Amino acid sequence: MSQSGPAKPASARTSSALSGAVRIPGDKSVSHRALMLGGLASGETRISGLLEGDDIMATAAAMRAMGAGIRKSGEEWVVYGVGNGCLLEPEDTLDFGNAGTGVRLVMGLAGVYDMRTRFTGDASLLRRPMGRVLEPLRLMGVQVEAAEGDRLPLSLHGPRAANPVTYTLPVASAQVKSAVLLAGLNTPGVTTVVEPVATRDHTENMLRAFGAQIEIETDSSVARRIAIEGQRDLAGQTVTVPGDPSSAAFPIVAALITHGSDVTIENVMMNPARTGLITTLLEMGAVIDVTNERNEGGEDVADLRVRSSDLKGVVVPSDRAPSMIDEYPVLAVAASFAEGETVMEGIEELRVKESDRLAAMADGLEVNGVDCSAGHDWLKVRGHPGGKGLGAMTEEAVVETHLDHRIAMSFLVFGLAAEHGSRIDDASMIATSFPGFIDLMTGLGAGMEVSP
Ligand code: S3P
Repeated sequence: MSQSGPAKPASARTSSALSGAVRIPGDKSVSHRALMLGGLASGETRISGLLEGDDIMATAAAMRAMGAGIRKSGEEWVVYGVGNGCLLEPEDTLDFGNAGTGVRLVMGLAGVYDMRTRFTGDASLLRRPMGRVLEPLRLMGVQVEAAEGDRLPLSLHGPRAANPVTYTLPVASAQVKSAVLLAGLNTPGVTTVVEPVATRDHTENMLRAFGAQIEIETDSSVARRIAIEGQRDLAGQTVTVPGDPSSAAFPIVAALITHGSDVTIENVMMNPARTGLITTLLEMGAVIDVTNERNEGGEDVADLRVRSSDLKGVVVPSDRAPSMIDEYPVLAVAASFAEGETVMEGIEELRVKESDRLAAMADGLEVNGVDCSAGHDWLKVRGHPGGKGLGAMTEEAVVETHLDHRIAMSFLVFGLAAEHGSRIDDASMIATSFPGFIDLMTGLGAGMEVSP
């Protein structure tokens, strides 16, 4: 999986009104966790709505390599878990392709076992920092052999009995929090994670649903203190994966910026730890009706009716970053068509995503004629309502996506409202999180295509 195939250049052209109703694929965060906990718990787990993207299939392969049975049966995925504490030593290196969440969470899950587990990934993943997960694992007694700078490829070997730690997160990261909690599952005693800033809570919710002994406290000084008691039984469950709000973000912004659009996106997860983009777009003047609100499989979901809107620039405060961390690239696209300036603050974490997203956004906006400036942890975009003069179809104006699915989708959405459309160098990695993206968008009337 770490051998990437040939690049597939793609383009988007100025489009007339988008319309229709669509369902977007299942949530990536929940899908990873469902396969991991299903693969670990005793008995059968049935998952509906699983995201069938490359990132998730890499997690499925890793869990199979450690003993889980995973197969598709009709529309459902059925997982036979090994039982907590009973993962097997994988024979081969676990290859996570492009998936930072998959590799970091499985490092926690398997790293504390008294066995050798080797991890690798694609060119993007090899560049990403793993020290943030390795640091707590080392404290728990895990031996690490890693490439320079705590990067992949690396191998982990856990102690005979891991050390239960109390670990305060130095960065607001659900991946690091989750890695430590999953490591705690195979650690005697109580492992505690202190989270100064709240991040997505899917791991805690799902651990509880699978029967883990987990306690969550909040006080005035920290957002959450999460304690998990290790070496307890977990039992297989039925999991319903809701639609991914981070994928819904693309048709939402496309409808907002494409004149005359009226689009409904069904079954979108509305967990408050994930809805920062909706909050921001509403502040910008977006017309988004949240309808049919309900709870499915333990998560709030809703349908979103989105109509094209006259947006205005806003300041997005840094404390909103955790609830929209993956949505800044597409927010920058919305900001490109808004009146006035949009300022995004406290976003240095974007520099260590699938690409340096802050740089990739600024470069892509610039080649498409958008007036923007960037610092170490901020981005300012000055919008051009109507998209006059924006975009380009020339060779010089092809956006470099750096193996980053969200950069690729963002700049395809950009082209729908830009006077001259847009081009990207590669759309192949979109399948990591949003298989069928171009077909779904063209079904709504978007002029997007992969170059022949
Ligand atoms: C994720 C957490 C976030 C997010 C990623 C998915 C998760 O990463 O960017 O796409 O599923 O836990 P960080 O934990 O690095 O912020």
